[in-house]
Formats: sequence, C-alpha cells, structure tokens
Amino acid sequence: MIRLFETADQSTSLFHEELQETYHSKHGAFSESMHVFIENGLRFLAPSSKPVRILEVGFGTGLNASLVYQEVFGNQSLKVNYTGLEPFPLPDEILAQVRFDGLDKDVFKKVHDAYNQPVELAEGRFTCRVFKQGLEDFQEDELFDLVFYDAFGPAVQPELWGRDALAKTIAMMSPAAVWVSYCAKGEVRRILTSEGLKVSRLPGPAFKRHMLRAVKPQGACE
Ligand SMILES: C[S@@+](CC[C@H](N)C(=O)[O-])C[C@H]1O[C@@H](n2cnc3c(N)ncnc32)[C@H](O)[C@@H]1O
Repeated sequence: MIRLFETADQSTSLFHEELQETYHSKHGAFSESMHVFIENGLRFLAPSSKPVRILEVGFGTGLNASLVYQEVFGNQSLKVNYTGLEPFPLPDEILAQVRFDGLDKDVFKKVHDAYNQPVELAEGRFTCRVFKQGLEDFQEDELFDLVFYDAFGPAVQPELWGRDALAKTIAMMSPAAVWVSYCAKGEVRRILTSEGLKVSRLPGPAFKRHMLRAVKPQGACE
C-alpha cells in the first residue's frame, strides 16, 4: 500500500508501506529533486546544441521529468530526450492527490502518458518516454548523457546498488556522461570509482550531509 504525506517544503511524497520506504526526503521532496537532479545534474552539464539524453532509474511520481521540462521551457537552447524506467507505475488516484506547487499541472499529467507512447512538449525540445520495466530488464542501444539514479535506497533494494546494476548503467553512459544520486553510501562510491568513474561527494539537500555525482571519462568507448 502507498500512503501520501507532506514533506517539510509542503510538497508531497509517498510512503511505501511494505518496504517502509519513502519516495523522497521527508525534509522536502521538491527541494531534494531540485538540488540533486537539476542543480547538480542537469545544470552541471556543459551546454550542447545536441539533445541531452537522460535516463531515470525509478520514474515514480514523474517529479524529476517535470522539473527537467521546466528547465527546457525556460532555456530555449536546451533540448532533452528523457527516458524513465518504472516497473510499478503509480495509480491515477494517487497521482491526482500529489501536490508539487510551482510545477505545471498539465505537464505533470502528460509525462505519465509517456508510458504508452513518447510525449513531445516545448515544441519538440523535450521528449519523454517511460518504460514499465526495471533496470534489470531494460535493453537499449542508445547511450545516455545524464543518469538520474533514483531507486529506493540500498537498505531495501540492495540489488539496484550492487556492481551488476551499476556497471550495467555505466555501460549505457556516453563518454563524459554524468550520474547523480541522492545516495552517498561508501560502498556505492567505491563501486563507481572502481568501474572507472570520477566520483564526487557533494553537499546533500536539506538535512542530508551528502549526495553523489560521478563522471565517466571522456575517452571511454561509445
Ligand atoms: C525513490 S522512488 C522514486 C522517486 C521518483 N523519482 C519520484 O520523484 O517520484 C524509487 C522508484 O523506483 C522504482 N523501482 C522499483 N524497482 C525498480 C527497478 N528494478 N528498476 C527501476 N525502478 C525501480 C519504484 O517503484 C519507485 O517508483
């Protein structure tokens, strides 16, 4: 069962009763996503005339995709192709109750239509597709420039934070691609480093000491 609750910045998050795990930080869902994925992820990338190919592991409420759309809307030179993975899409009745003030409500709805067919917004500068699949089943030839690693935490989903899952994700990253996550666990940092990424432990969002950002070497093979 999934229960809604209000986080410290008034935005909604969800609590997964069975896993006893929240979808976001209780100190602020909206501010956590802005800090980890937008400020330290999307805005960290060097400007490019090509579309930024983003992969999100754990699409959930679609908050991150909606925030990326807002960035594209506000920056005429930014283009994004967004791919989300979510094996357990949230029911409409839950999504209807989620409150993220400051997000475009139509866009928030539309990104969830991307399960059935790709959605194109901002005059084609933002495309979104979501696969009802876990990372373990996802196969894709295309490479990604930015990975939002937003799975449930290592304590409840250890298989998503082990070497196999992380190496699979790294293999799908283009040279100089960036991986970001709210998780700063030492073992995750060590695996990313030993797989050849340059890992930084950055200040985390409110009340969280750290987050991780990892960059693939330039010279890595496509
Ligand atoms: C921390 S929550 C995601 C938060 C989401 N990004 C949001 O803003 O709402 C983790 C998400 O990962 C999804 N998930 C579970 N198993 C997964 C798997 N094997 N691969 C990818 N995502 C998975 C969960 O269903 C859940 O929606």
